[in-house]
Amino acid sequence: MSTYSPPNQSDNPYIPFGDQRSAPFYNKDILSVLQFTRADLDYIFGVAHEMREMVTRVGTFDLLKGKILANLFYEPSTRTSSSFTSAMERLGGSVIPINEVHYSSVSKGESLPDTVRTLECYVDVIVLRHPEVGASALAAKYARKPVINAGDGVEEHPTQALLDLFTIVEELGKVDGLSVTMLGDLKYGRTVHSLARLLTLFDVNLKFVSPEILRMPPEIISELDQKGIPQSEHFSLEPVISETDVLYVTRVQKERFEDLSAYESVRDAFVITLQTLNKTKERMIIMHPLPRVGEISMEVDDDPRAAYFRQMEYGLYVRMALLAMVLGKA
Ligand code: NCD
Repeated sequence: MSTYSPPNQSDNPYIPFGDQRSAPFYNKDILSVLQFTRADLDYIFGVAHEMREMVTRVGTFDLLKGKILANLFYEPSTRTSSSFTSAMERLGGSVIPINEVHYSSVSKGESLPDTVRTLECYVDVIVLRHPEVGASALAAKYARKPVINAGDGVEEHPTQALLDLFTIVEELGKVDGLSVTMLGDLKYGRTVHSLARLLTLFDVNLKFVSPEILRMPPEIISELDQKGIPQSEHFSLEPVISETDVLYVTRVQKERFEDLSAYESVRDAFVITLQTLNKTKERMIIMHPLPRVGEISMEVDDDPRAAYFRQMEYGLYVRMALLAMVLGKA
């Protein structure tokens, strides 16, 4: 169900689908959620909404015809890389996929700055996923073309946070006043780091539920504190589940553990089942950035509160909006 209404065009200084090079984000990097204001979010979601209508009506159209995107992925990805590809192709542009950096000159020892300086000779925008914190900022420093952070190690995943927020708006019709519970690997999960930061623009109540060794990093807790966000930490879902409006479940990030026995000790700490649903509000949503590896039982998938498959679709429209914006066409 969609309850979000895009900004009234007569009130909106930006004309979606025009060639507005003075529009916000034209030629800008998308590196961190900290760069967004609430007005930016209204604008992005307004464009994403238009994108959804266009995809529903015509599927593919020529807004970015002739533009080329490099999808540079140093870490595995299914959703992020294919949704950026789909977004670019639905807008009439094309994509150079470098998903398996082992087959590129990276395996010969080429540095990230040299790789991006190479790619920008051939493309108009670079989408980068990298295992190191700060990699996208480094790439952006060297690239003259816009760089979009598609996940930099454990730090941030800003486009995921935008699509997560868009999902909340579309599904629940508002963000202010909601109680958002983040569950699972809050230490290494970059999606929850970005989403928690982005939610500081709203009047929300955050609850963090994790095993002791996977708590939300203290720097983020203190960032949220400084912004006056009510937050609490728990080691069990029980005390918070009944008041939760958004339950954001995450995978335990096995690849970030140095000690695999520590991973084994927490991998099955939380599993959402039909019994969990019995304790939730009637109107709430369960989200997950995916992939899941057992944290949500498949029996939950058919419940209307399970929003994680719809969440992936919202991601297409948000990424279409971002590409159109950074390339000056929204
Ligand atoms: C997430 C990621 O890569 O951080 N996946 C995604 O982009 N949808 C979450 C994860 O891998 O657990």
